[in-house]
Amino acid sequence: MAKEFDVVVIGGGPGGYVAAIRAAQLGFATACVEQWSDEAGKVVFGGTCLNVGCIPSKALLQSSENYHLAAHEFASHGIGVTGLSIDVAQMMKRKDKIVADNRAGILYLFKKNKVANFHGKGSLASGDDSGWTLKVALAAGGEETLHAKQVIIATGSSPRQLPGAPVDNQRILDNAGALSLTAVPKSLGVIGAGVIGLEMGSVWRRLGAEVTVLEALPAFLGLADDAIAKEALKVLTKDEGLAIELGVKIDKISAKKLVSVEYTDAAGAKQSKTFEKLIVAIGRAPNTAGLNAAGVGLALNERGQIEVDEQCRSNLPGVWAIGDVVRGPMLAHKAEEEGVAVAERIAGQYAHVDFNTIPWVIYTQPEIAWVGQTEQQLRAAGVTYRSGQFPFLANGRAKGLGETRGFVKFLADAKTDRVLGVHIIGPFASELISEAVVAMEFGASSEDIARICHAHPSLAEVVKEAALAVDKRAIHI
Ligand code: FAD
Ligand code: NAI
Repeated sequence: MAKEFDVVVIGGGPGGYVAAIRAAQLGFATACVEQWSDEAGKVVFGGTCLNVGCIPSKALLQSSENYHLAAHEFASHGIGVTGLSIDVAQMMKRKDKIVADNRAGILYLFKKNKVANFHGKGSLASGDDSGWTLKVALAAGGEETLHAKQVIIATGSSPRQLPGAPVDNQRILDNAGALSLTAVPKSLGVIGAGVIGLEMGSVWRRLGAEVTVLEALPAFLGLADDAIAKEALKVLTKDEGLAIELGVKIDKISAKKLVSVEYTDAAGAKQSKTFEKLIVAIGRAPNTAGLNAAGVGLALNERGQIEVDEQCRSNLPGVWAIGDVVRGPMLAHKAEEEGVAVAERIAGQYAHVDFNTIPWVIYTQPEIAWVGQTEQQLRAAGVTYRSGQFPFLANGRAKGLGETRGFVKFLADAKTDRVLGVHIIGPFASELISEAVVAMEFGASSEDIARICHAHPSLAEVVKEAALAVDKRAIHI
């Protein structure tokens, strides 16, 4: 006998578990199916983000930043540190506790909202006018049958593999391995100067590893505004000590005691480097295997993602898909927004996710964050715009913090002054970008932000001054 639900969510990452909670809040009998197990064999929610992504990486970034500050910055404050050391086991223990606390938090939220959960691999078996029959291959063995009027697929993504470089998480690491090293490697290679490569490279660099990042594309951080990408490349290489090589072609990787990487550099010369560990971070692929997509006729696109419309509807009635398994940026907050929107659409409510106002953040030091259009996108689209830029160097709070690198850049429509994009490299860019997101959501002009009173001294004053700079009337420069 199938267990009956209004909504079944397959996958309990930030897209899936948030969708399940919202569906339950809206009064639907809801279940969430998740295959992930912890060391004790118990079900684990939170997906990539909580377990091997956003949360553990930010925990390690903070630990390594603290170490770096103690080693290099405390002296300027008159604080002496002798015998500074890093206990990697303790750093990992702290990270694991943060993850464990959040895992428990999701189980608490499921209980509070009466979301049923099933531990196993979910798939679509068949559908008819009454809804969908799902099979769950239970982690404990056996099978459960569920029936739901609506199904939300939120199965996320997995690391893309580099041919010839099998990940063993001992010497060749994916994100999970990079987050679980037991010692600081002397030398670390990273394939891919994307978000994971830069964040994980930063963690281990700050703790003393010699880090070399090998990137296939000739341009650095192609998605970011050119001015931000240029500044980031300078700061990350010159100040932070990451060796970044662009435009390389990986020829051969062999792992013995060390990992050797043979590659052709941008000038066409053959190169070879040897590393104690190698992180492969070349993007992620959607998880659709095992869903029985072909069996039920669920359409995938040419990139292997579940094909959905703007509202996350698949080609099958009553089957929705959200997060990393569909088009759009692979970001936890994008997955969450889509999850909430789908639950609300199922309830007949209006919901909208504006891709243009999804913020991007890279948690390097200094942080990089942006929302909206880049200058090169505006130029390519033939939009006339004005830009304003203001450096953290001219801000009192940034000086007090000891982090004056970077700037805020505004792009506003030349005729209407409407904000089209905001780009930040600097301290707490991840927090500062929220003001720009709110402004863009409300269709603000740069003058609106320029006229808002910002606390003094605060980093947010740099945002205000950059908005003033659009009209060439920044005060402190
Ligand atoms: P996932 O989080 O991948 O969750 C999918 C879940 O579905 C998994 O738990 C999986 O086990 C389960 N599943 C899959 N198939 C089945 C099945 N058939 N049956 C049952 N369960 C199934 N994003 C940010 O926004 N900010 C960050 O700082 C950030 N940092 C990151 C750092 C790293 C190292 C990585 C790897 C990613 C990071 N991301 C970050 C990206 C973020 O983790 C993803 O965008 C996000 O997790 C996607 O959420 P999701 O719910 O779509 O998928
Ligand atoms: P990515 O797409 O950010 O970067 C991958 C990089 O690898 C690209 O620059 C690409 O050109 C390069 N590459 C691809 N093939 C290559 C090859 N053969 N040799 C050398 N370089 C190659 O992907 P990444 O870093 O794996 O992260 C996956 C996703 O996870 C990101 O797109 C992002 O959405 C998400 N993420 C988000 C974070 C955040 O929001 N702070 C942090 C970490 C990940």
